Amino acid sequence: SLPHEFKEPVQLAIIGGTGLYDLPNLHPVARLTVSTPWGFPSGPITIARTEDGFPVAFLPRHGLHHDLLPTDVPSRANIAALKSLGVKAIIAFSAVGSLQPEIRPRDFVLPTQIIDRTKGIRPSTFFEKGFVAHAMFGEPFDLKLNKLISEAVPSSGFLEQFDSKYVPQLHTKHTTNGGEDLTVVCMEGPAFSTRAESKLYRTWGGSVINMSVLPEAKLAREAEIAYQMICMSTDYDSWNESEEPVTVETVVGNLKANSANACKLAATLVDAVAHAFETGVGIGDDLSGSMKFAVSTS
Ligand code: ADE
Repeated sequence: SLPHEFKEPVQLAIIGGTGLYDLPNLHPVARLTVSTPWGFPSGPITIARTEDGFPVAFLPRHGLHHDLLPTDVPSRANIAALKSLGVKAIIAFSAVGSLQPEIRPRDFVLPTQIIDRTKGIRPSTFFEKGFVAHAMFGEPFDLKLNKLISEAVPSSGFLEQFDSKYVPQLHTKHTTNGGEDLTVVCMEGPAFSTRAESKLYRTWGGSVINMSVLPEAKLAREAEIAYQMICMSTDYDSWNESEEPVTVETVVGNLKANSANACKLAATLVDAVAHAFETGVGIGDDLSGSMKFAVSTS
């Protein structure tokens, strides 16, 4: 029964991953079905407002009923739809497996790097049919957004602990990783990795593993939208021989706690980003116009 139109530009979007299908602590004001030249996005886009009236778009990556495999997520339509609303910054949530002992299940991670292990079967560029463009991707996430999130959230004591004795942590490059990159390995799936693969990714410096950061992050860059992912650890993948290899059951158990924390985190971050936009911090401004220099077709 929400309106199907929203006339104001929406500068911030949240993409929800497995376990995050809604933003219950914001007030929904519209629900949009957006058509793009790349088809329809994963689901309807909900526009919600903060207490102060700042609008934010929410899109569930795997559909409202989690019926899309990572391979089948229509990422081009998702990013194009958000761009058409005026989005300049995306905070994307994703469930991940941990490749490091100190990243425990229910911890959150702000990655700074990506290793692509998708099989090249996901359409990963907007530039085709006679257009060639090479976006810069050495720094795949947005540094301003990363900093804003790191500063808005203390690394310990912010995430709720729920039923276990363990207090979940937020891992960031500067506050808890001594300036070392935090790398998300993106695999094709849908089956999880073998133990040999999982160990290989550790030797490559992988911190966490998921099936969703690509091509989403690349397409956001091509669309000149600032993008940062927040990873929510659900399991130790399969490298850790003292633990059972990952099962859907483990993942689902931790997802519940993670999604409550994701909602809490999203609410805090929406306020922080709203404040940044209102005070002219200029998130995404450095990307604006950047693709002009990436096109190599005459
Ligand atoms: N998502 C959650 N856990 C994962 C894992 N172990 N590997 C890939 N994607 C995941």
